[in-house]
Amino acid sequence: MNLYGRSLIKVDDLKANEFFYLVKLATTLKHAKQNGVEVPELVGKKIALIFEKPSTRTRSAFEVAALDQGAHPVYIGPGESHLGVEESPADTGKVLSRMYDGIEFRGFTQESVEGLDQAADVPVWNGLTDMWHPTQMLADVLTMTEHTSKEFGRVVLTYVGDGRNNTARSLLVTGALLGFEIRIVSPKELTLEDTSVLLAKQLAENSGARLVMTENIEWGLHGTDFLYTDVWLSMGEPEEAWKERIDLLREYQVNEAMMRATHNPEVKFMHCLPSLHDQHSATGARLSKLMGTDGVEVTNEVFSSQASIVFDQAENRLHTIKALMLASLRGH
Ligand code: CP
Ligand code: NVA
Repeated sequence: MNLYGRSLIKVDDLKANEFFYLVKLATTLKHAKQNGVEVPELVGKKIALIFEKPSTRTRSAFEVAALDQGAHPVYIGPGESHLGVEESPADTGKVLSRMYDGIEFRGFTQESVEGLDQAADVPVWNGLTDMWHPTQMLADVLTMTEHTSKEFGRVVLTYVGDGRNNTARSLLVTGALLGFEIRIVSPKELTLEDTSVLLAKQLAENSGARLVMTENIEWGLHGTDFLYTDVWLSMGEPEEAWKERIDLLREYQVNEAMMRATHNPEVKFMHCLPSLHDQHSATGARLSKLMGTDGVEVTNEVFSSQASIVFDQAENRLHTIKALMLASLRGH
């Protein structure tokens, strides 16, 4: 496996064996850190972290992974560079690659991260755009492998909610690439555009993945191993859209009844986070009232239950992002 010098801009930049290789490397790195025997292999490397949008997990995962490995991360937050305002992604990519060894980018358009990557001489990693969230997928697959005893090709993951956001698109294409069964359950107003569906279908022809896209909650849930949801309004979408979104998605809330409707007592609940699952955040409090339930896309009851593996997912952002940086910068 040689991922040296490679960027990760969208999920299908990786082949299935490369994806699984990164997940395996992340497992090794996770154990090394837990046992206090991690070997820093990125000493002296400088990593630029560009964020046009907020982040808790992605930023922390890149920073801590870099620090664990002896590299030096530099955070460039929203409004702190000229990117997109006074300077093109291409010019920024050229400049940063004369100073840094790798560039992480979180922002709005996929064109920005592609422009950076095309101009940069160093690896560029997409830390989320409106289209894709590939580093999240590495963490999710690691977490799934930790919580199933099934052969991976037999696993079923059902995503319920906004079926055309970055997470839904990324999950569909990840399932299609790796060959597990992926179901996207959403109202027809919130389904993916044809190009992503076509891409997933082409990948599924090779991998044998089963793809299901449906409005039918009962059908989508039956027998699933992992029930996944995400926020109903993604970063960058207008606040005014909340009311319409709640009207569309109210019956797609993950609650105890939905967990039971999987008919799988072992089903696990997943969420990339952040989540509006209770009233202890400003938005969570405001919208829980509007919903009339404790939680928006998921109830606090499910979020806090034994079935919930969301904090394993969050921790695994660190180990998988570390694996990605090592593979890109050291050729692991
Ligand atoms: N899941 C995720 O990307 O979280 P952050 O927005 O906190 O980085
Ligand atoms: N769909 C969400 C994912 C957050 C990690 C968003 O883009 O805001």
